[in-house]
Amino acid sequence: MSNEVEQLPVFDVQVTEEDMREVEDALRSGWLTMGERTERFEREFAESIGTSRGVALSSCTAALHLACLALDIGSGDEVIVPSVTFAATANAVRYTGARPVFADIVSEGDLGIDVDHVESLVNERTKAVIPVHYAGYAVEIDRLAELCERRGIGLIEDAAHAPSACQHRDGPRLGSIGAMGCFSFFPNKVLGVGEGGALTTDSDELADRIVRLRSQGMTAVSIDRHRGKAIGYDVLERGYNYRFDDPRAALLLSRFHRLEDELVERRAAVARYRELLADVPGLTIPYADFDLDCSSCYLMGVLAPDAATRRTLRERLASEHGVQTTMYPAVHLFTAYIEAYGEVSLPVTERVADGLFSIPLFPHITEAQQERVAAALRESVAFAGVEG
Ligand SMILES: Cc1ncc(COP(=O)(O)O)c(C=O)c1O
Repeated sequence: MSNEVEQLPVFDVQVTEEDMREVEDALRSGWLTMGERTERFEREFAESIGTSRGVALSSCTAALHLACLALDIGSGDEVIVPSVTFAATANAVRYTGARPVFADIVSEGDLGIDVDHVESLVNERTKAVIPVHYAGYAVEIDRLAELCERRGIGLIEDAAHAPSACQHRDGPRLGSIGAMGCFSFFPNKVLGVGEGGALTTDSDELADRIVRLRSQGMTAVSIDRHRGKAIGYDVLERGYNYRFDDPRAALLLSRFHRLEDELVERRAAVARYRELLADVPGLTIPYADFDLDCSSCYLMGVLAPDAATRRTLRERLASEHGVQTTMYPAVHLFTAYIEAYGEVSLPVTERVADGLFSIPLFPHITEAQQERVAAALRESVAFAGVEG
């Protein structure tokens, strides 16, 4: 690999002076666990998603785990998930003792879970479906919600990639349609702050249980005792330490207040990529006909014709052009999943998982950087001998 090539990262986070001041204020306050800032974020975030309640958690994985527990999912149950996702979606199901059952995705152009396939997998053991709004684009959530309602099963939205996204313009925000929505604030996400997540819901009953499970199943936490609202506590069920904290909430609030502006920048960058890459031979752009105004544009995916070509392209992009890329392997093909559940056939997922990778996308990416990526892709495609 040539050291002279300037690297272009696939994700890039900018922490502003304002962010620093907010975190400093939080640290100076001396309140370092969950407190006012966490509560303020929960209120503002839930309001933006359109739910009555929001719960800040240590990660989106924790949110998915607690969402499953709040629906009383456990051993002997099945939960339908996509395989085009991060391992967390399926791992969270496994934490409960339940079995994740993988459904295929729609097509190369729509990487969302295939609702018809989901329906064919539902049986008396099925307790819930967890669709993933991959890359910030909505699955067919209205059809899925109708299916879940009709078959009497739970719907948990994995909206890790999708704060502020929706299926239809002026429609409800993703994360407000299922019983619960789960979000990630891992640094590469559109609202990244480090480790962190949130759960949104309209149900006080579910939210109250999640709040309890977040902190060891306790009836009161430190801030309640500090405010004189409680002098002791009981433990009502086995819970976890999935708590958040105020210094991170300060950073999160600060970043959250500029999220919509950053989404405008992300959408413009994806629109530009769509133009720049439209005629690169042999490459498919997933979600190419999806409405960008509905998306949080988390990832810019590109689909190579096969795994060998993807490998050549990614290596060439990195070594010759300094263009970093990333990819999500299909979860059902991981060793731990084959060992636990045997081989599962998901033809569209496998085809997509072989070719899919992501190219640099962040709010402040410049036109020149995007042109550089497009030129690098063109050169790498020619090098790999890809035909249109
Ligand atoms: C689709 C999806 N779900 C869940 C997660 C887990 O998020 P966290 O790292 O906040 O636990 C991720 C993280 O990348 C993800 O991509």
